[in-house]
Amino acid sequence: MYKRISGAKDVLPEESLLWQELEQISRRVFRAYNYREIRTPLLEEEALFSRSLGGASEIVQKQMFIVRNQDEVYALRPEGTAGLARAYIENNLDKGAGFAKLYYIGPMFRRERPQKGRLRQFHHIGCEAIGSHQPQVDIEVIALAHQLLRNWGAQGHQIKLNSLGCPKDKQALTQGVASFFKAKLSRLCADCKIRIEKNPLRILDCKNDACREAANNLSLGQGRLCPECNEHFSRVREGLTALGIDYEIYPALVRGLDYYTRTVFEISHPGLGSQDALGAGGRYDNLIKELGGPDLGAVGFAFGVERLLLVTSHKSQVTSRELVYLIALGEQAKKEGLKLLGQMRQAGICCDTDYENKSLKGALRKANDLAAKAVLILGDDELKKGAVTLKDMQSGEQKEVALASIVAELI
Ligand code: HAM
Repeated sequence: MYKRISGAKDVLPEESLLWQELEQISRRVFRAYNYREIRTPLLEEEALFSRSLGGASEIVQKQMFIVRNQDEVYALRPEGTAGLARAYIENNLDKGAGFAKLYYIGPMFRRERPQKGRLRQFHHIGCEAIGSHQPQVDIEVIALAHQLLRNWGAQGHQIKLNSLGCPKDKQALTQGVASFFKAKLSRLCADCKIRIEKNPLRILDCKNDACREAANNLSLGQGRLCPECNEHFSRVREGLTALGIDYEIYPALVRGLDYYTRTVFEISHPGLGSQDALGAGGRYDNLIKELGGPDLGAVGFAFGVERLLLVTSHKSQVTSRELVYLIALGEQAKKEGLKLLGQMRQAGICCDTDYENKSLKGALRKANDLAAKAVLILGDDELKKGAVTLKDMQSGEQKEVALASIVAELI
């Protein structure tokens, strides 16, 4: 017997209703903020990700699913931002309106060790606003994430905020962190001893107790940012406060992808355990230019759908009691029934029938199992009268309705 691969998940029909609702709610919120949907390929050139996320990032180093095609190397997308930036440039989306607000919903792939809230195929609901450096856009993007969470019914989450500053500020931060940890090298885990050379900021995300302890006296506070970045960050904080959005400044929040500059944020939830990030994002003002596009500021975020479903008390609002179940008894009735099903389906009524020539009793039991809202019975008697018996499955009441008017009656 074949089994699904570790870290992948089947979304069965009951749960699928929840996914559909989550997506619908998201689409409505994105619409309200004037974002439009973009769908980019699941496969991209591997080099796009190593260039965008950074060759030393955990994702590129350890987590990409690589697909070789003769001389070309592709990767299953581990995240959405790089592919979207590529599509933005390739399709000249900077022309025309210039400023592009785009959202995406779809699967991402990372070769991580699976555990609660950590899958190898998971899903993002995310967005990117490309074309501006203004702090108003950071504020709007975080407000949008906040509204999504509210509309999904999430509670108890926390918004962590930081600014990495411009590339110069970020480089100074990286050097500061590296020299701080060099003095404590013997206390770091084996991975962090490598990180100190390749990507020192990642040490701040290490879950190893010794590395956390070593980070205790690291001061990343005030005065680190250049005046422009400081001003930018102040405006973001003021804007969020003015909108009544709670957040906390986390100087150690550095994010694991190279493309980030200035504002970064993460939304965490204590109910998730060790993988506590529900979503995350930030500004990436150099990525579009680095990938060969114009010099444009950009900011965005992505939520992990599976993690959202772990913490939201969201219950499906869709009742399964919408099904109309047709029971056609006898050859002639079955022929008429086929036409009636066609008419109902054209009118958008959710309906089905028994394909197994069950008795009336057996078919009624089946309708009950399917939680049908109503049953239509079409037998010889009804056929003679040009009618059908309509039975309400909740009240048990039944009446005869002319075949010619049953679709209108059901609507
Ligand atoms: P990220 O932090 O790598 O950011 O992923 C965003 C969210 O995806 C995480 O907060 C988490 O909820 C979910 N996630 C990540 N890995 C897994 C996994 N293995 N299993 C389940 N869920 C997972 C990004 O991907 C950026 N592209 C976000 C962004 C958009 N920044 C700017 N624009």
